[in-house]
Amino acid sequence: MRRIGILTSGGDCAGLNPAIYALAKALYKKIDDVELVGIFDGYTGLINLDTKVLKPRDFEGLLTQGGTFLRSIRQSFKTIDIKDEKGISKADKMVKNYKELALDVLVVLGGNGSHKVANLLSERGLNVVALPKTIDNDIFGTEETFGYDTAVRVGTDYIERLKTTAASHSRVFVVEIMGNKVGWLALATGIASGADVIVLPEIPYSLEKVNKAIEKTLKTRNYAIVVVSEGAFSKEEAKLKAKDRLAARKLAGFASISEKLASEIGAEIDQETRTAAPGHELRGGVPSAYDRIYTACLGDYAAKLISEKKYGLTVAKIAGKISHNPLSAIAGKAKPVPEDSDLIVAAKDCGISFGD
Ligand code: F6P
Repeated sequence: MRRIGILTSGGDCAGLNPAIYALAKALYKKIDDVELVGIFDGYTGLINLDTKVLKPRDFEGLLTQGGTFLRSIRQSFKTIDIKDEKGISKADKMVKNYKELALDVLVVLGGNGSHKVANLLSERGLNVVALPKTIDNDIFGTEETFGYDTAVRVGTDYIERLKTTAASHSRVFVVEIMGNKVGWLALATGIASGADVIVLPEIPYSLEKVNKAIEKTLKTRNYAIVVVSEGAFSKEEAKLKAKDRLAARKLAGFASISEKLASEIGAEIDQETRTAAPGHELRGGVPSAYDRIYTACLGDYAAKLISEKKYGLTVAKIAGKISHNPLSAIAGKAKPVPEDSDLIVAAKDCGISFGD
C-alpha cells in the first residue's frame, strides 16, 4: 500500500479544494492500493502530528468549494531549522513524523515560502511533490499559479463596482490590490477593469507622472481609477531598503501605499480622492470555472508523477503545457512582472499609465 500525505500551506486561495479533489480522484484511479492522509494547518500539522486518514467520500463536493478543508498556516522558512531546547528543529520533527506516519510521499499545495520548505524536506530525503498556489502568481518557473484567475475576477468585479460610485460622486479612487512583492494581480485587474493608472512594485512611480495621467483622464471623464499593488513604491522610496521604506511611511502616518498615494494625489489634484481595497476577498469565495479546470489538470499531473514515483518536483505550466520543475531549481526564486511583458505593452497601448 502507498500512503500519501497532503497539506496546504501559506496564504489560502480559491482553488485549493478543487486541486485536492482532482489530486485525490486521480490518485485513487492511477494507484490500486493507496491511502490518503490529510495533514491539518500546513506544515504545523506535520510538526505536531495533526492528521487524519481520508476516505474517498471526504473529497466529495470539494470541486466547487473555496478555502481549504485541510486549513492552512504560514510557516516561516527562517525558523524551520532552528533547534529547540532538546536540539530538535521543526524540519527534524517533520522528517521524523513523515517516517512515523509511514508516508511514501508528501504533497504540498503552496506558494513561494511553502516551496522553500518543500525543497528543504526533499533535500532531507522525503519524497515531495508540490503544486503552485497563490493569488500573487509569483512562483518562478510556472506561467500561472492556481487561485490567480479567481482573484483577478474578484478584483475586476470590485473595481467595476467602484467605477459607478466614483462616477456618481466625481471622485478619484486609489484601489489597493494584494501582492506584496510582485504586481501580476494588480496589473491584470487593472487592465480588465480599464484602470487609468496602474502602479506596480516592478515600476517605481513618479507622482508627477501619475498626476499627469489622472489630469488627462479628468479632461474627458469626471472620475479616475488608480490601481496600486500592495508592494508598490515611489521612485524616491526606491532608494530606501524595504524595511526603512515601511518605517518612513508609518512615521508619516500611512498604513499602506494606497493611503500614501491617495494623500499625495489629493494634495495636487482638485478632486476628492478616496482609497478602497478588496483585501482577503481576493482569496475567498467560490473558485472560478477556469481555476477548477486548471486545478483538474494540475492535480491529475501531480498524481501521474506520484504514480511514476517521480519526486522532488513541482507541477508547473511551461509554454502552455502542464509539466514540472525540480523543486531545487525554483525554490527561493522570484517571478516579477518583466518591464517588457506583453501585458504592460498592451496596457500602455490602451492608454494606461504606469506612472513611469
Ligand atoms: O501571498 C498571498 C497574499 O494574499 C499576498 O498577496 C498578501 O500580501 C499576503 O498573502 C497577505 O497575507 P496574510 O493573509 O497572512 O495577511
